[in-house]
Amino acid sequence: MLIQRKNTDVLALTDEEFLELRNFIVRITGIYFPESKKYFIESKLRPRVETLGLKTYGDYLNYLRYSPFRGSELDVLFKLITINETYFFRDEAQFDTIEKEILPKIIESKPRNGFRTLRIWSAGCSTGDEAYTVAMIFLEKIKPKYPDVNVEIIGTDINSAVLDVARRGIYKRYSVRYVPENYMRKYFTILNDEEFHLIEDVKRLVKFKQLNLMDKFQMVTMRNFDLILLRNVLIYFDENSRREVVSWIYDSLNRGGYLIVGYSESLRNLTKAFKVVYFDKTIGYKKE
Ligand SMILES: C[S@@+](CC[C@H](N)C(=O)[O-])C[C@H]1O[C@@H](n2cnc3c(N)ncnc32)[C@H](O)[C@@H]1O
Repeated sequence: MLIQRKNTDVLALTDEEFLELRNFIVRITGIYFPESKKYFIESKLRPRVETLGLKTYGDYLNYLRYSPFRGSELDVLFKLITINETYFFRDEAQFDTIEKEILPKIIESKPRNGFRTLRIWSAGCSTGDEAYTVAMIFLEKIKPKYPDVNVEIIGTDINSAVLDVARRGIYKRYSVRYVPENYMRKYFTILNDEEFHLIEDVKRLVKFKQLNLMDKFQMVTMRNFDLILLRNVLIYFDENSRREVVSWIYDSLNRGGYLIVGYSESLRNLTKAFKVVYFDKTIGYKKE
């Protein structure tokens, strides 16, 4: 049912505007908002529409489409609509498998002339917790066993604000609550009860950059990865976008490389390109 705007309404999002905005958003970002998320969109965008002095959400959509500030406004939009929940050692069993099974397998398959380098991508990295978790595991568990191995980790996200947090490397207690005690002591400087600074040795291993997984031109620049983490990102996407991103991610992997998706996610119905590898507590998708 279409909602008619009354004079007394404070900037209400009509059904029609919602559908147009949602089509626009899914086309650009892959993120799909079902009808149940109409209020989310309305409340997230309202302050922005008001700040710009626009009268309707339809005007905002036109601004996003045609304004000379379109590029920077999209950046604002991405910050408003993305869900950035993350924390260190999230779904620890996956990191355990990465440490004990996946990385050793990848390393041992690499030729041993000089240094071997692992290339790892945290895609949809939010504030960097996932990328830095891998970096700490590398320093703590992998490097001592394989001293000739180096690592390059890249974290990417569509939301530039979370990347700023990632680059700073300063976290609140919530983010570090599952970090094992020995890692906490070794890899963080604890300034006070609420601020935990990652040490430079960890920060140095990870580079961050803004990247939209739906942007084919950006995606083709991401090549030769041994391990890609794409966890808790595609759950927000519609099926076509998921399929597209997964096929590009496949192209980003080296042969023998692995893709890990979120604990509750699966690539079933999206692709048959990967070999599904069942580990003790997690599933890996291998490019053979
Ligand atoms: C829920 S967080 C997951 C963070 C981390 N991977 C984890 O599992 O803890 C999802 C992240 O995906 C990012 N994201 C959503 N759509 C994206 C897109 N089209 N391109 C790149 N990143 C995107 C969001 O900005 C958000 O930071």
